[in-house]
Amino acid sequence: MLSTLHRGDAGPATAAREEFRRDVVAGLSKRQKSLPCRYFYDDRGSVLFEQITELPEYYPTRTEAAILKASAAEMVADFPAGAVLVEFGSGSSRKTELLLRQLPGLRAYVMIDVSAGALEDARQRLGQTFPRLDVRPVVADFSYPVALAPDLQGAPKIGLFPGSTIGNLGQPEAQRLLRLFRAVLSPGGRLIVGVDLKKDTGLLHAAYNDAAGVTAAFNLNLLARINRELEADFDLAAFAHNAPYNARDGRIEMHLVSRKRQSVRVGGCTFAFAEGESIHTENSYKYSIAQFRSLAVSSGWTPRQVWTDPGQLFSVHELVSA
Ligand code: TRP
Repeated sequence: MLSTLHRGDAGPATAAREEFRRDVVAGLSKRQKSLPCRYFYDDRGSVLFEQITELPEYYPTRTEAAILKASAAEMVADFPAGAVLVEFGSGSSRKTELLLRQLPGLRAYVMIDVSAGALEDARQRLGQTFPRLDVRPVVADFSYPVALAPDLQGAPKIGLFPGSTIGNLGQPEAQRLLRLFRAVLSPGGRLIVGVDLKKDTGLLHAAYNDAAGVTAAFNLNLLARINRELEADFDLAAFAHNAPYNARDGRIEMHLVSRKRQSVRVGGCTFAFAEGESIHTENSYKYSIAQFRSLAVSSGWTPRQVWTDPGQLFSVHELVSA
């Protein structure tokens, strides 16, 4: 909205739009076309993602919530008094409530998310449930360093990174992010991170190709956002969602497949699609517990405890600074 009112203004909104345009044009110019997954989460995308988390086939959210519910008291048992909880990509903050209930002495809850709408909804709800909690919403992309408010900088910090968002990154990016979190949370920080586990391919496939088509709508919303913000002309009906499991790389891959031969215009550039050609929009890596712990070690963290559900679908890891 701001950027249309102040067209030509080199304000932050314009800079963000420029970066979005550059990323989209670069991704669509590759041999295997791709789009960066962080652009999924505009306000509409955040609402659709919340709907994904409630789907019968999408086990990660409810399984992680069950683990948090069963073990929250144990997880927070030795949190230092006056600690600040910092959540990276907090979304609705619903799972976080399970921890907050066990943390009456928390100094503040810093929630970082790119969706201002999601943060505002969460702030209002948390205000009702925890009237004495100091809630600090920060509209930001957690893949860049975030400075905490000056009054919180001296407090011990505990990071929270649930939802297996770490699985949406390849190994070098995951390592880079875990190192970045370590810097943000230092000195002496710790991190609670949710990681989806390797499992039966059928279960995985169902979770990312749901019968109601919500994941398809979420994936296609990326094209709707590009149309809206970058004056592009994607025909949403001409692309289909597909999310196969790539066993060699241990990841679900999200694609948008062109249903026909077509060309699309994006911000002054034209991109040709063959029938069946795809845009790779996201990966969701699945780890064994040992694999994730070794990733943590290679990123400068020391793994401590790990919690799972009885079905071994999902894991929650506690990492501490060595
Ligand atoms: N972190 C989530 C996951 O990998 C994100 C996610 C779930 C997702 N479903 C999706 C991302 C569909 C893109 C499309 O499970």
